Amino acid sequence: MEVVRKSEEIKAWVRKQKASGKKVSLVPTMGALHAGHLSLVSIAKAHSDAVILYIFVNPAQFNDPKDLEKYPRTLERDLELARGENVDVVFAPEAADIYPEGGGKLSGTCHVRAGNRSENFEGDGRPGHFDGVCTVLNIMFNIVEADTAVFGEKDYQQLQVVSQMVKDLQIPIEIIPAPLVRDHDGLALSSRNVRLSPEGRKESLVISRTLAAAAEKVSSGERDARKLEQNAIQAVESTGRVKVEYASIVDADSLEPLSHIDKPCQFLLTATVEGIRLLDNIRLKP
Ligand code: PAF
Repeated sequence: MEVVRKSEEIKAWVRKQKASGKKVSLVPTMGALHAGHLSLVSIAKAHSDAVILYIFVNPAQFNDPKDLEKYPRTLERDLELARGENVDVVFAPEAADIYPEGGGKLSGTCHVRAGNRSENFEGDGRPGHFDGVCTVLNIMFNIVEADTAVFGEKDYQQLQVVSQMVKDLQIPIEIIPAPLVRDHDGLALSSRNVRLSPEGRKESLVISRTLAAAAEKVSSGERDARKLEQNAIQAVESTGRVKVEYASIVDADSLEPLSHIDKPCQFLLTATVEGIRLLDNIRLKP
């Protein structure tokens, strides 16, 4: 596995792959890899001949400089995991290479404004977050010129925001969604899970259980989205230690809230446990 730090080097690497007729996939990450990321790699492999995994903690998507500072950086371990998955190349650039002007601060630089799928949920209370995500991805897509890029459904809104950007800006890349991966106990895999105490982790399981119960109710005939959302909030908060931030049943593409379920849709639920935000979601199929 090659490790490349400079954008000029990754461009040359991609050119070489394409010259030999290979299809290239990109797996964008901010590192701190876990089994969820590795599942993106295996999906990328199934769709291409050469896989680039990028590791870049993107300053432009953090509102709080303390969060950026605290973000786990585990490059050596990440490289080991990537090697174990037979990733072809890891691209791990410095911020100065990706943001030659402004160091990742969007104001004053030319950047992407995310579309309306970015407005609620994760977009609430994190102004500019999705602009930062779209901007870095645009830069990476321009540098790497991959044929496909894989995004996990765990960050369901991000997947829809990125898909909207690619469609609206006619970026020549195919976005491949990858199913959310759960741990053995049902908790959606996330780099943040390691920060939960054993007790907090146990309590957090109410989130995935509640979503699974809602999916079950919908397949047995429930169609009232508001009732399902209210029941879910009550169930999740019943332990007293888990606080729901949002619980919304939305159109699976546009993310518009639904009141009546008459087609497959997505139930997005984000809750805080021990100060840690946990994102989860599930497909509802009437
Ligand atoms: O999901 C993430 O880890 C990040 O938002 C992404 C897509 C790598 C962009 O920085």
